[in-house]
Amino acid sequence: MAQSRRLFLKIAGASALTLAAAGAGLGVFAATRTPVRALIPWEEAVSGVHGDPRLRALAWAILAPNPHNIQPWLFELVGEDAVRVWHDPDRRLPQTDPFDRQIVIGFGCMLELLRMAAAEAGLAAQITPFPEGGGSPRLDDRPIAHVRFSPGGTQPDPLFAHAAARRSNKTRYDARPVPLEVLDAVHIAAAPRLDARLTNEPGAVGALKTLTGRALEVELVTPRTFGESIDLMRFGKREIEAQPDGIAIRGAVLEGLHHAGILTRETLADTGSRAFRDTVEMYDGLIGSAQAFAVLVSPGASREDEIAAGRDWVRLNLAATSQGLGFHPLSQALQEFEEMAPWLEAAQDMLAPDGGRVQMIARMGYAGDAPRTPRWPLESRVMS
Ligand SMILES: Cc1cc2nc3c(=O)[nH]c(=O)nc-3n(C[C@H](O)[C@H](O)[C@H](O)COP(=O)(O)O)c2cc1C
Repeated sequence: MAQSRRLFLKIAGASALTLAAAGAGLGVFAATRTPVRALIPWEEAVSGVHGDPRLRALAWAILAPNPHNIQPWLFELVGEDAVRVWHDPDRRLPQTDPFDRQIVIGFGCMLELLRMAAAEAGLAAQITPFPEGGGSPRLDDRPIAHVRFSPGGTQPDPLFAHAAARRSNKTRYDARPVPLEVLDAVHIAAAPRLDARLTNEPGAVGALKTLTGRALEVELVTPRTFGESIDLMRFGKREIEAQPDGIAIRGAVLEGLHHAGILTRETLADTGSRAFRDTVEMYDGLIGSAQAFAVLVSPGASREDEIAAGRDWVRLNLAATSQGLGFHPLSQALQEFEEMAPWLEAAQDMLAPDGGRVQMIARMGYAGDAPRTPRWPLESRVMS
């Protein structure tokens, strides 16, 4: 939502006066609207400010992709060499992710980054997912994972070099095709354990655009599911700094639209509003610009499958980064709420006809830079 070019074009013409009236002298305003505090965790990971090697690795782990950037993790340092990973029960997505499937995939992404960051420091991370069993149908108060670190017995992972540059790139992609050799290189570098398929074949790309686009519309027109996203939107620098999670609506233009009353929680919730129409149109444009897709299928639908999917997923994202490709998850068709059922069935039929669970779908393409997303400071996620 942060890249509403169409909204930008509209505001640049018709609503310039409104912006001025809102007191937004755009030049000065623009220069000051990038969040600062909310992005410090990225710098802290790179510069390795923490003394305890577990914290140094966790500083990278919290930069993992995770649904709606909800950052559901809590960490308990155990003894001298272990970390117990817990789920914050207040950080769920009950409407769009009623069984916590995406939340657990996000934990898998985080655990793989944790392993890679530890390996970089010569520490092997032995990860035991759900040491006391996994919550079903929803997560409960049992731990998500136990991780024990020990020196030696591991190799640095070449993909880790791309951890600071990795993004979920939600911009519109170039028309430049993505060659099959590049997709092969992504697959080889990611070395997924599950069934990962990357395609630039026009028929498959077209079918995936239709699936992801139609499913997205369902989420947007279902008030309680789009409402969940709206509640997680942080409009402008002040809100982002105060709550560095969720969906950051950032940049001078969007913040100006917000202050002008054009782009607000209320206008977005109104399917007749211009803000809502522009949002739908923006997503159509983003999906329409996909040049390739990645699909990840796990053999089963257990909690362990979800963790394994997350571990593969961040590797695919890092490998795409290594090839200069934008990578943007589009999860709506895979969600388990009632109105989505026909699209989930279509996704399963199309992408896993012989069984298994489609866990993730992403569009890919060559793209410009995307900004870092905010994170809560590591200290706020470590239990004392
Ligand atoms: C399980 C999962 C599902 C996701 N689904 C979507 C999605 O449907 N649409 C989207 O724009 N981003 C999706 N994302 C990407 C997150 O929004 C993104 O990881 C988060 O905002 C943090 O940003 P970053 O990956 O650039 O660090 C998903 C990520 C994960 C791990």
